[in-house]
Amino acid sequence: MTDTAVIDIRPVTEDDLPAWTRTWGNGYLRPYTESSVETVRSTTARDRLIGAFDMDRCVGTYRSSAQELTVPGGAFLPASAISKVSVAGTHRRRGLLSKMVAMDLRGAFERGEPVAVLDAAQYPLYGRYGFGPATAMAWFEIDVHRARMDPLRTADTSSVLLVDAREYLKAAPGVYERVRAGQPGALRRDEPWWQEATGHRTGSADRRSEPFFALHFDPASGEADGLLCFNAEETWGAMLPQSPLWIRDLIAVSPRAEAALLRYAVTVDWVTTVHLPYRSPDTLLPLWLGDPRAARVSALSDYMWLRILDTPRALSARTYGIEATLVLEVADTAGYATGTWLLEGARDGASCTRTTRTPDLRIDVRDLSTLYLGDDSATRLSVLGGTEELRPGALARADAMFRTGRRPWSPRAVLGAHYQAGAP
Ligand SMILES: CC(C)(COP(=O)(O)OP(=O)(O)OC[C@H]1O[C@@H](n2cnc3c(N)ncnc32)[C@H](O)[C@@H]1OP(=O)(O)O)[C@@H](O)C(=O)NCCC(=O)NCCS
Repeated sequence: MTDTAVIDIRPVTEDDLPAWTRTWGNGYLRPYTESSVETVRSTTARDRLIGAFDMDRCVGTYRSSAQELTVPGGAFLPASAISKVSVAGTHRRRGLLSKMVAMDLRGAFERGEPVAVLDAAQYPLYGRYGFGPATAMAWFEIDVHRARMDPLRTADTSSVLLVDAREYLKAAPGVYERVRAGQPGALRRDEPWWQEATGHRTGSADRRSEPFFALHFDPASGEADGLLCFNAEETWGAMLPQSPLWIRDLIAVSPRAEAALLRYAVTVDWVTTVHLPYRSPDTLLPLWLGDPRAARVSALSDYMWLRILDTPRALSARTYGIEATLVLEVADTAGYATGTWLLEGARDGASCTRTTRTPDLRIDVRDLSTLYLGDDSATRLSVLGGTEELRPGALARADAMFRTGRRPWSPRAVLGAHYQAGAP
C-alpha cells in the first residue's frame, strides 16, 4: 500500500476528468457513464475540482463552487459550496478527506469567500473542520385521505397550469430568484442546475424519466409566482388506486400560491400518499391541509452545514433582531475565524471589527456557524460546551440578536437517489 505521504492532492485537469468522475461514482454508488463525465465537464465553470492521486490513479474527489448564500436581511454572501466528496474504499481512513478539506478551505479563504457550505451525507464528518449544522429539514408524508381535501370542492385550478418542461424552464428560474432574495439559507440555482433538476440533462447515472410540472400564476398580474415539479407512479392494489406522488420542488412567492400548488398535489386522482421532502421544519405547508396531522414527519434532520471563514465579513453581512453589541471571542483551530470581535448589530445592518474589549461570549467556530443563519440558540448550544457565557446576560443577548422569526431554509429540489418512496 502506498504511503499516504506520497499521495498527491492537487487540482484536477481536463485529462483527469474521466478517472475523477469514475472515482466519485464509486464513492456515491453511482455507476459510471460517458454522460456523467459530460455533466461534470459542463457544470464546472465556477468550480474548483480537487483530486487525490496515488501514482496516476485517482483515489479521492472533491468539488467546490462559487455560490451565493442568502443571509438574514436579504444580502447575498459569497460562499464556497462543497460537493462530490469521496475517497476510494481502498484508501479510506488515511486522512485524505482531511487533506482535501484543508486545501480547499485555504483556497476559499484566500479567494475571499467568507463562508463555506455543504450538505453532509454523514453527520459525524464535518464538525472537526469547523462546520456546524445551520439549516434543518423536515420530510413530510401526507396521507391524502386524512388530509381532508375533497378534490371536488378544492379543485380551484384557475391559477394553476400544468406545463411542459420548456415552459417550466422559462418561468421557474424567475420565480426562484424572487424567493431566494427573501429566504435566508437559500443558494443560487444556475442554468445547468435547472436542466438537471427538470430531467432535461440527466446527471451521472440517474435515468429518471421527465417529471410533471405545474406553475401558479398571480391572478392580478398574470405573472408566474409558484412552481411545482413532481413524479407520480401508477400503482394499484385489488382495484384500488394507491399511487404515490413525490414533490421534487415546490417554491412560491406568496402563501396563496404555495397553498394552491400543495392543494393541487394532494388532490390528484389516484394519489394516496404525497411525499414532501426538504422543507424547513417550521414550514406552514401542513397547515394548508384540512387536517395538518395527515402530514407526518418521516425525517427531521440537519441539512445545510456552514463554516465561517471570515468572521467580520460574515457577521457584518446580516441583520440582527435587536440593536445591540456583543463581544465574541471566537476559537478556530484552523485559525481563519479566530479573534475577539466587536459585533454591533441592528435590524438594518451591522458592523464587526477586531477589538481589545473583554469578551461577553467565548464561542467555537462550529457554534458560531450554527448560529449564523438564526436556526439555533446560543443558550441551547452552551449546554454542549462549545459556547461559554463570560458576562451575565450575554447568551440571552446573542439569542435576541441572532435568532430570526422564521427558521432559515435551504430549498432543494430532489435530484438524485435520496429520493425513494418511504426511504428518506
Ligand atoms: C466520508 C469519506 C469521504 C471519508 O474519507 P477518508 O479519507 O476516509 O477520511 P479521513 O481519513 O480524512 O478521515 C477524517 C476524519 O473523519 C473520520 N471519519 C471518516 N469517515 C468517517 C465516517 N464514515 N464516520 C465517522 N467518522 C469518519 C476519520 O476517523 C477521521 O477522524 P480524525 O480526524 O479524528 O482522525 C469516505 O469514507 C467516503 O468517500 N464515503 C462515501 C461518500 C461520502 O459519504 N462522502 C461524503 C459526502 S458529504
